[in-house]
Amino acid sequence: MSDAANEYQGKATMEKITSLAKRRGFVFQSSEIYGGQNGAWDYGPLGIELKNRIAQAWWKEMTQLHDDIVGLDAAILMHPRTWEASGHVENFTDPLVDCKKCKSRFRADQIPGENLSAKKCPDCGGELTDTRKFNLMFKTHIGPAEDTASIIYLRPETAQGIYVNYKNIIQSNRMKIPFGIAQIGKAFRNEIVTKNFIFRTCEFEQMEMQFFVKPGTDEQWFSEWKKRRWAYYEKLGVRMDYLRWHQHGPGELAHYAKDAYDIEYLFPMGWRELEGIHNRSDYDLGRHTQYSGKDLQYIDQDNSSERYIPFIIETSAGLTRNLLMILCDAYDEEKVADKGNDDDWRTVLRFHPAIAPVTVAVLPLMKKDGLAELAQDIRAELREDFAADYDQAGAIGRRYRRQDEAGTPFCVTVDYQSKDDNTVTLRYRDSMEQIRVNRTELAEHLRKEIKGYKRTK
Ligand code: GAP
Repeated sequence: MSDAANEYQGKATMEKITSLAKRRGFVFQSSEIYGGQNGAWDYGPLGIELKNRIAQAWWKEMTQLHDDIVGLDAAILMHPRTWEASGHVENFTDPLVDCKKCKSRFRADQIPGENLSAKKCPDCGGELTDTRKFNLMFKTHIGPAEDTASIIYLRPETAQGIYVNYKNIIQSNRMKIPFGIAQIGKAFRNEIVTKNFIFRTCEFEQMEMQFFVKPGTDEQWFSEWKKRRWAYYEKLGVRMDYLRWHQHGPGELAHYAKDAYDIEYLFPMGWRELEGIHNRSDYDLGRHTQYSGKDLQYIDQDNSSERYIPFIIETSAGLTRNLLMILCDAYDEEKVADKGNDDDWRTVLRFHPAIAPVTVAVLPLMKKDGLAELAQDIRAELREDFAADYDQAGAIGRRYRRQDEAGTPFCVTVDYQSKDDNTVTLRYRDSMEQIRVNRTELAEHLRKEIKGYKRTK
């Protein structure tokens, strides 16, 4: 077997994903022409489409499909007291050690225990510094004076914007407990170690939902939300044997959590957290009551004006981390034809059609004889309802491969027969099977295929 074929034998690796992401315009390194900015990434034309669709799928799941959840878009900059109340100023730290010899920097909880106790660098064997706490929040100044009174933070989680608005939303939307508030937005963390592409970055996006419940019902709602979030990934078409639960032990629990489970995904570098489901108890609203001096109790009008601080069940997923998971999960390499040629492989992204950046590509078999015009006409019709691409450059086989690599689930080919009988070829990305469909039935056909999609490979 040739080297080229050998290279194709493995499935997704982080190198392959990073290189495909750049080559096809999913994700670029931030400020690349200046050598790149650590912990920051830019989303290219296919990447932003994919990110938007993942966000839309989550938003639909949380708001459109739940009567008791409403949306919010809070500011990134919040009153600095927020972060004192939330406990982030005091507790949102990572343990940091440096190697005095090679100057490498590590999170103390991510190096082997024997290295830490012997103060020995895992890379070069040099001496490590004492462990010190490092706060992950980015600090800046608001206004012209750079003094302590002007300190402001970039939010490290979107959740707090929801807590400080919870009373506003109850009043404006007449919400009754139990109810939830969903939000998607940027968060920032001064991460010590940012490796593995977009897995852990300093600027990222979260999709968080905070569900407010009566104390005493929190454990039941916690297990309900665990079930719902698991079912969500199944619906999204993720390979479920690549997901597992991890319960936080006492040493792992965040300062606000009574109980916490992560949904972990088997990334190329191993099992890693994808989303956290947390029982935050009454910690957050209790602390905001204390720090703001405002009464944040819920008044239950249906139950003789009973008052209490609600407990909060949080589902917190990284949007950008979800995108990495979707790329890894979709990535496949397949030998396409047995022509006695071991090198005939294709790279294909098997996205669920509902989240694929391009849903359908229309390709004229030839540019001449009116086929290009006919294909453009069909594309113009389809783009009203679908993300529809048009490509007339190069051999048809090569165009299919390009679309496979971008994860386009359907290709429509316009040929000479199309001119005669108004039919087109519909090619399926996953099976590469081709069928003939009448142009007038194409949109409806695609709609059905998207709705009924089941991943088979
Ligand atoms: N509000 C709770 C919270 O922020 P978290 O476990 O720290 O909890 C939730 O973060 C999710 O946000 C993670 O499961 C992960 O998907 C994503 N996330 C956290 N830090 C990240 C980072 N530095 N880069 C990318 N995604 C991150």
